[in-house]
Amino acid sequence: MQMGRVQFILCVWLLAAAISARAQPPSGEAIYKQRCSGCHDQAGSRIPPREALQKLPALRILRAMNAGVMMTVAYPLRREEREAVATYLGIPGPEPGPKPEAFCKERAIILKQIPTFSWNGWSPMLNNARFQSADAAGLSISQVRKLKLKWAFGLDGEISAYAQPTVLDGNIFMGSGAGLIYALHAESGCIEWTYQAGAPVREAVAIAPLGDHHAVLFGDLTGTFYALEAETGRLLWKKRIEEHEAALLTGSPTVYQGNVYVGVASWEETRAINPAYPCCSFRGSVVALRVRDGAQIWKTYTINDAPHPTGKTSTGTLRQGPSGAGIWSAPTIDPKRKMLYVTTGDNYSAPATTTSDAVLGLDLATGRTLWSHQVTSGDAFNSGCMVGIDGPNCPDEGQRGPDYDFGSSAILVKTPQGRDLLIAGQKSGMVYALDPGRKGEIVWTQRVGKGGTIGGVQWGMASDGQNVYAAVSDAYFFTKDQVRILSPDQGGGLTALHVANGTKAWYAAPQPCGSRPLVEPKAATSGCSPAQSAALTAIPGIVFSGSMDGHMRAFASEDGQVVWDFDTRREFSTVNGVSAKGGAIDGPGPVVVNGMLFMNSGYGRFGGAPGNVLLAFAPED
Ligand code: HEC
Repeated sequence: MQMGRVQFILCVWLLAAAISARAQPPSGEAIYKQRCSGCHDQAGSRIPPREALQKLPALRILRAMNAGVMMTVAYPLRREEREAVATYLGIPGPEPGPKPEAFCKERAIILKQIPTFSWNGWSPMLNNARFQSADAAGLSISQVRKLKLKWAFGLDGEISAYAQPTVLDGNIFMGSGAGLIYALHAESGCIEWTYQAGAPVREAVAIAPLGDHHAVLFGDLTGTFYALEAETGRLLWKKRIEEHEAALLTGSPTVYQGNVYVGVASWEETRAINPAYPCCSFRGSVVALRVRDGAQIWKTYTINDAPHPTGKTSTGTLRQGPSGAGIWSAPTIDPKRKMLYVTTGDNYSAPATTTSDAVLGLDLATGRTLWSHQVTSGDAFNSGCMVGIDGPNCPDEGQRGPDYDFGSSAILVKTPQGRDLLIAGQKSGMVYALDPGRKGEIVWTQRVGKGGTIGGVQWGMASDGQNVYAAVSDAYFFTKDQVRILSPDQGGGLTALHVANGTKAWYAAPQPCGSRPLVEPKAATSGCSPAQSAALTAIPGIVFSGSMDGHMRAFASEDGQVVWDFDTRREFSTVNGVSAKGGAIDGPGPVVVNGMLFMNSGYGRFGGAPGNVLLAFAPED
């Protein structure tokens, strides 16, 4: 189209405005107020608070806007404006890379085709039970009592340590908030190699054999999926696996027989805070890729109907739906039935669908959805509904749901009587056992918590075949001086349920935060909370559960007695010379392999205390 006169005048005017704007350097503070504070001054949400951003290098903040999670938010900003806001918020100077002395003296990774000892991906087995066998764990109950810190590794410039390590025969592979993937030597914590991904990597990476070598498989928080050579860290291939711009990958991939299965979630629920955002058009999906070259084998959306316009909001913004039902956790594989199971999150907009807050059973070969079992219907919710925001994008009264996503994987177990069950824990505080052989029919249900937006079962349960262990977040916020802070005496609790019928075997009450200061100086949003939101890990005789107060505890699986307790909320001297401290424990659970335990501490989200450390423990003789 030819440029019309009015457009031309407009253009000249814009150019003049741009030139005069350039003469006046943009104010980072003004841009922050206008473009960032609406989200980052909301304490206790999914969003890191301003105080956490202020601890990041300015270059890292810039990277988040240019190529990371803030890309679409920053899209309308000019380069100088991005630089101004990054400088205003962050720490000046170059972004730190690993120190040369942090690398191993001899850098060689040799992996066996079938590893002797491993915790590969989200769970050691395809059933997602997060149970490590006695042989692979190499830790008895009495050795757990004697666990001592062996080394600590600092994640430079990070506010969270949130990627669960994958461990294969003495090698650790782990992502990070900076998007740096690390290969470390498990005995000493020295670096074998690093790879810089384009965005933060929060999931546990999965390793698959590939020819004579191995592939490290993972996705980032902007929706790109990668395959690296495990031996060298060299990129083999990468691709975007979902065209929606708000897609994010956070559920760990599951590898099976030469293919990798990936669940796709999104940021769109958060975008809806903006009244001008046309909410919503993302649908969750599962994608099957060939490990060798990344070729797509199949892709199945969790919602059949494509989103379409459904009207206007009170402020005149387009409404779209159906949307949501993202997948936030690792797919579970059932080799016997040749099925794959995923759990889904809520819908973001009306109309609500029958496949949100559901467990889906897919045919492993074709991806066809063979059955779905929804546990909460009518759950349309987005961040525009959060208290204090009450935005026009929140679905109307009557169409709005309670935000009861499934955030964790369904666990496939065999009861002592030999019956297969799929067990799933929800943010509602409910645990469900479904029959995978009967289209997900409910076998038993049990309540383990109160539930809520950040309540109930968050990152996942564990099962040793006798019991299923379910800890709850049920984190609670209150307002002090108009800042939302975590309550030190609400949330948490660990319940053991009999796998066979869901009855309670025992309950371990949450431990109070005690005399720990409620509010860190200068970080009013980082309170203390006993919430047990992090994923659990089981080995024979023990279940591990971390809490937002920074403690990692080992409970006897027989009666729930605490047999080991380590407080991570302190500073650590690290093998890589990076200053590091522990904080809230949230997200992934510990990984136990061949007599060692590895865990992250620090989760600067939901009001939790930031931290940036990977810890390795071994029993002291
Ligand atoms: C619509 C809400 C929203 C707005 C507006 C917003 N952010 Fe964010 N921001 C988020 C969310 C959600 C995350 C969490 C991402 C994650 O979990 O890693 C985040 C994370 C970040 C991070 C951490 C990224 C990392 O590498 O860990 C930075 C830095 C950041 N935002 C900067 C900004 C700046 C600068 C602005 C203003 C130009 C801004 N944000 C505006 C929602 C928002």
